[in-house]
Amino acid sequence: CGIVGYIGTQKTQSVLLEGLKKLEYRGYDSAGIAVFTSEGLRIAKAKGRLANLEQRLEEAPLVGTAGIGHTRWATHGKPSDVNSHPHTDESQKFSVVHNGIIENYLELKEELISQGHEFVSETDTEVISHLIAREYDGDIVKAVQKAITHMRGAFALGVLTEYEPDRLVAVRQASPLIIGIGEGENFIGSDIPAILKYTRNVYILNDGEMALLTADAVELMTIEGNFISREMIRVDWDAVTAEKGGFDHFMLKEIHEQPKAYRDTMLGRIDASGKKVVLPELKLTEDQIKNIRNIQIVACGTAYHAGLVGRTIIEQLVRIPVETDVASEYRYRSPIVNKDTLVIVVSQSGETADTLAALREAQANGAHVLAITNVVGSSIARDADDVIATLAGPEIAVASTKAYTSQLIAFNLLGLYLAQVRGTQTPEQIAHTIAAMQALPEQVESMLKQADAIKNYAEQISKHEHLFFIGRGLDYAVAQEGSLKLKEISYIHSEAYAAGELKHGTLALIEDGIPVIALATQESVLEKTVSNIKEVKARGADVLAITYEEHVASLLKSVDQAFAIPKTLPLLSPALSVVVLQLLAYYASLALGHDVDKPRNLAKSVTVE
Ligand code: G6P
Repeated sequence: CGIVGYIGTQKTQSVLLEGLKKLEYRGYDSAGIAVFTSEGLRIAKAKGRLANLEQRLEEAPLVGTAGIGHTRWATHGKPSDVNSHPHTDESQKFSVVHNGIIENYLELKEELISQGHEFVSETDTEVISHLIAREYDGDIVKAVQKAITHMRGAFALGVLTEYEPDRLVAVRQASPLIIGIGEGENFIGSDIPAILKYTRNVYILNDGEMALLTADAVELMTIEGNFISREMIRVDWDAVTAEKGGFDHFMLKEIHEQPKAYRDTMLGRIDASGKKVVLPELKLTEDQIKNIRNIQIVACGTAYHAGLVGRTIIEQLVRIPVETDVASEYRYRSPIVNKDTLVIVVSQSGETADTLAALREAQANGAHVLAITNVVGSSIARDADDVIATLAGPEIAVASTKAYTSQLIAFNLLGLYLAQVRGTQTPEQIAHTIAAMQALPEQVESMLKQADAIKNYAEQISKHEHLFFIGRGLDYAVAQEGSLKLKEISYIHSEAYAAGELKHGTLALIEDGIPVIALATQESVLEKTVSNIKEVKARGADVLAITYEEHVASLLKSVDQAFAIPKTLPLLSPALSVVVLQLLAYYASLALGHDVDKPRNLAKSVTVE
């Protein structure tokens, strides 16, 4: 979900709507705003896309000097007008927007009902507005503080009351929130793009902190009421970086930004000789590195798939045992870690609730946690013991592309660095891999020029209901990411299989004409993969192979079509082959007329369990 808030002299409604537009990628089941108008606190909300709310406001605008807005991704209660934020109490004098989950809301709701409160929605947020109303005694800050003492869970709040029209209260408790500082106006936002159009000066709230905003001042304090001071951060992102910049969709723009993302992520991390990786940001000492006994990589979604590639990269380069797990499983399986375990959490947003919880679980058990993340000020970046930032820039499309490939670059840098310290690769091997990494950006550029060939194939597969991806080793890891990408945005059902495993059951699903995409870049197992291709071919599959130019001719004896990618080292091939699969998913979604950047049921940043 996304939060925005404003207090000042501009047209509040437009500031809120602008902010919500920038936050729509955080959820878009419904949206709403509350504004102080001359008649008091007024709320407008609408189910579905922001456009629905805009239409409603066009018919009946809300004019005022302070307001809060919200874009929702349903957790408690289905997407509907009544479940949309902002919520209020029966006096309609208090209004709340909320991200996160109040775990004990049912208990609180029962208590409030027994005290005579009446509820209209199924949400946990409505409970907060009633609690604040109950605790109110002439000072909104105190009322919020008292209400919080009853609430358990993760939340970021924006609160207004009609009784104090010149004040806006913001709270952060395990759900991100920032404060934007203007002149004669101030802002709140669940992240920076929400307010970037208006100001570049921000305070980032920590867990357990809150802020009181007026048009002219911002006071920061803990939720217990102790005043705090904080350094203001100046955001140097270019406002247009967060816009589509000439492309039809954010996803296509972000696919094309990958060469830059690769370069930026390597920048300053390879020494001038080009023969050594330097990671000056790491606190992990050489002694600690030498003592690492095992590594666990934990993440969700696409970041998890990057972790599958990371496992092979580190195992091959450093010969330390590595396991990769999804965060929602890891955190509940009482993971076996100790001080010689390095836990690597991977997260584009740095806010994914399960990944954050896994990080805390690992830390509590004594592990050193290193985060690979794309958002430097994020919760995960701030809680981790070490951070390697991927420098992909803001990623807006729900389907992750440049963040994933930047994570692959980060894994290669980390693997090489660990290998340097532990002496598991010779200086020549390291220099050789670095040179191959430095060639990747141009190789991706050359692939992007061939996007039309992929578009044609995507149009063919868009007519199918099912398809399969197969591969071995790193090709299997990439197959899983390719399959997820396709599912997310084209809604075509697909499965990724380890090529050698197919015959143990799934082969039964192969029938005449079914498309199979075979990744065949891992040369040590190429012949084996070709055997598996023959198995599906014999059952009538229509096979596309993704391989190097030098194997195209021989593979074409067994497959129907082949797409060549530039030659690279085995550990680096995912950073190239996945680009084909990203484009495939993009063009399939486009051919089917789906909303590429905002697929149904999915959100960019999942800050609930
Ligand atoms: C959501 C997004 C996915 C993403 C996953 C993990 O489900 O839709 O694209 O891979 O969260 O996000 P993170 O920000 O932790 O990488």
